[in-house]
Amino acid sequence: MSRRGLIAGNWKMNCTVAEATALTAELRRLLAPIRHVDFMVAPPYTALWPVAQRLEGSHVILAGQELYPEAQGAFTGAVNGDMLAEVGCGAVLVGHSERRQLFGETLDSSRLRLRAALAAGLTPVLCVGETLDERRAQRTMEVVGQQVEAAIDGVDGSELAKIVIAYEPVWAIGTGEVATPGQAQEVHGAIRERIRSRGSELAEGMRILYGGSVKPDNAAALMGQADIDGALVGGASLKAESFAAIARAYPSK
Ligand code: PGA
Repeated sequence: MSRRGLIAGNWKMNCTVAEATALTAELRRLLAPIRHVDFMVAPPYTALWPVAQRLEGSHVILAGQELYPEAQGAFTGAVNGDMLAEVGCGAVLVGHSERRQLFGETLDSSRLRLRAALAAGLTPVLCVGETLDERRAQRTMEVVGQQVEAAIDGVDGSELAKIVIAYEPVWAIGTGEVATPGQAQEVHGAIRERIRSRGSELAEGMRILYGGSVKPDNAAALMGQADIDGALVGGASLKAESFAAIARAYPSK
């Protein structure tokens, strides 16, 4: 089965509304002719609505960076899946390593978030990845496997078919260090094998993105790997030209 590439931009805590709308206008212009991949951008909450308005009629999916897995109520500072969907999101990041490291998200909370995203009709982009210490201790496969299993536990095949996974080694995020294409492929292949235990068609159809210091000059080699179906881009997604260059680098497979 051939999988369509997906290039996703995680803007993190960057961009005022003015900056976000300017970036969106530039993205619309540069991404319009690029038709061989799908696109997603995840602005901060405050910019979601104005960006959604400016993306109307485009082929770029809007995503939240996080959601809280409760319906509503006394959860100061939190936003739920329905709220994201209402402002035009079609997807949401789940379990990004910055959420796990800085905001105390756990294996359990990523499972609750993934389910809440599906319940709200959003595509969860499940982020997994090992720290440098874990890689040095040769625990990469164990850690990543555990993160994947914990998040998808109890999710049935038809729902599982809607998710996207992003492998983002923590040591490569925002550091300029990037996994070699071989290192990344090894983990992507292992993730796909794990999914295969839930169904071969499911595994073949699942998009697994690489994230961690993806730039225009390293994107082609990474995304050329058999099990790398696109990129989750942080820093380089804040410039429309470098985001578009990464997308152009997605090879036909
Ligand atoms: P980076 O971030 O591209 O700046 O390393 C990737 C991510 O955290 O999604």
